[in-house]
Amino acid sequence: MPVIAIDGPAAAGKGTLSRRIAENYGFHHLDTGLTYRACAKALLDAGLPLDDERQAAEMALKVDLSGLDRSVLSAHAIGEAASKIAVMPSVRSALVEAQRAFSKRAPGAVLDGRDIGTVVCPDAAVKLYVTASAEVRAKRRFDEIVAGGGEAEFEAVLADVIKRDERDMNRADSPLKPADDAHLIDTTEMGIEAAFQAAKRLIDAVL
Ligand code: CDP
Ligand code: CDP
Repeated sequence: MPVIAIDGPAAAGKGTLSRRIAENYGFHHLDTGLTYRACAKALLDAGLPLDDERQAAEMALKVDLSGLDRSVLSAHAIGEAASKIAVMPSVRSALVEAQRAFSKRAPGAVLDGRDIGTVVCPDAAVKLYVTASAEVRAKRRFDEIVAGGGEAEFEAVLADVIKRDERDMNRADSPLKPADDAHLIDTTEMGIEAAFQAAKRLIDAVL
């Protein structure tokens, strides 16, 4: 079954692009960030520490892919906790196994995250690495918070995006980086429709 792998840093537009692609081709979509978030939320809810790898891995084995809902996993604290447990190899291996099983679904699947093209689905039919400047990504996050009725300071959101990038790019296990055969889509000055059209041309050339 064809797999479309989409990786990149926070707020690059991976989720938006993945949903458009999945809809266009009638493929299943998995936002793998939600699997890390679900594991982190379960630990937080149970009052368990975020630095105990054995307990975190046990929780990771219980994550149910059919019950993932971004609206209950979107809290800032959950994202922070997710990026902390995402450095743990045994947490990653448990979640990656579930993600790989998902990627085999017919008639095809779109997975987005940080390590899809490099680790989860190295044989994906098409690999896209979506990125944008940290300032533009922070502005998108900031706008989302404000649109949702929340309050935020742009400088704080930017600092947070940069901190998350550093943690994701510098961890030893499965760091965020483009696969050798990934196509780069820089959305710094690109709207959602233009990014989709660029992706569609690349996918149509292969499928
Ligand atoms: O908040 P944001 O949308 O940027 O992140 P997310 O996609 O919800 O993922 C939350 C965290 O999970 C990321 O910061 C990564 O540390 C981790 N993650 C990962 O390590 N590998 C993936 N394939 C997806 C997410
Ligand atoms: O999944 P990821 O964290 O990479 O990003 P996203 O949730 O798809 O996009 C973050 C925000 O940026 C959303 O509000 C999108 O509507 C917006 N966006 C944009 O303004 N221009 C793009 N080319 C892509 C996304």
